[in-house]
Amino acid sequence: MTDTASDLLARIRVHGAVPRHIAIIMDGNGRWARERHMPRAFGHRSGMKAVRAVVEASLEAGVEWLSLFAFSQENWQRPETEVSALMALLEEYIAREAAELRQQGVCVHVHGDLSRLSPPAAAAVERVRRETAGGDRLGLNLFISYGGRAELVRAARMLAEDVQAGRLSPEDIDEQSIHRRLYTAECPDPDLLIRTSGEQRLSNFLLWQVAYAELYISSALWPDFDRVALYEAICDFQRRDRRFGKVST
Ligand code: FPP
Repeated sequence: MTDTASDLLARIRVHGAVPRHIAIIMDGNGRWARERHMPRAFGHRSGMKAVRAVVEASLEAGVEWLSLFAFSQENWQRPETEVSALMALLEEYIAREAAELRQQGVCVHVHGDLSRLSPPAAAAVERVRRETAGGDRLGLNLFISYGGRAELVRAARMLAEDVQAGRLSPEDIDEQSIHRRLYTAECPDPDLLIRTSGEQRLSNFLLWQVAYAELYISSALWPDFDRVALYEAICDFQRRDRRFGKVST
């Protein structure tokens, strides 16, 4: 018999060590649509429902931060119709969910090169930030037009500017000074990185931050990734022996 979401949640609570921060590379929307002889945009739309399920499941499990890779810098190179469909979905997600996210205590942060967004998409981002500011149960990081290397270049540039202006000396640069200049300066590093669709790549996501994250590859295509799938990933995480380079206790 397969475990239900409530069985798994009970098991997670008994164990107690819930990952504070989960990062997810949501992959497989296109394949999910192709299996159904539908256009790729249909897969992305179904992926939006999985986003909702995973946000709710994270709230229930007591996860503090959820980081979702929604659109990479490389994704701008997809056909214009697909890029427009993804941007329209982002706007729709915000229009439909902002009020409920606020009620649920979710604070939405949006990170990436947002200068490339269309004016309506940029306005939607501003709206969700404003309307959910102050949410204190779950921080939801949406990465849009994001690349991990570009984030590190941005941090390096900020450090160089601070050194040039005399605010920082090179010998004071350490891991903390880099951490403070990343988009994720406010949150702890991810404890668990999930990638769906069976692919085993980081794809330029949170390169600095996942240094000690536990990796979990799910064979589910993203639109099929639901509450049970998230809880299975958390249960798997709870069985791991995290040593951070030291020996086991
Ligand atoms: C990867 O699947 C997924 C994306 C590039 C987009 C992710 C977007 C969503 C889940 C929907 C909207 C999200 C929000 C936050 C509103 P793919 O297209 O690369 O799939 P494939 O590898 O099977 O082709």
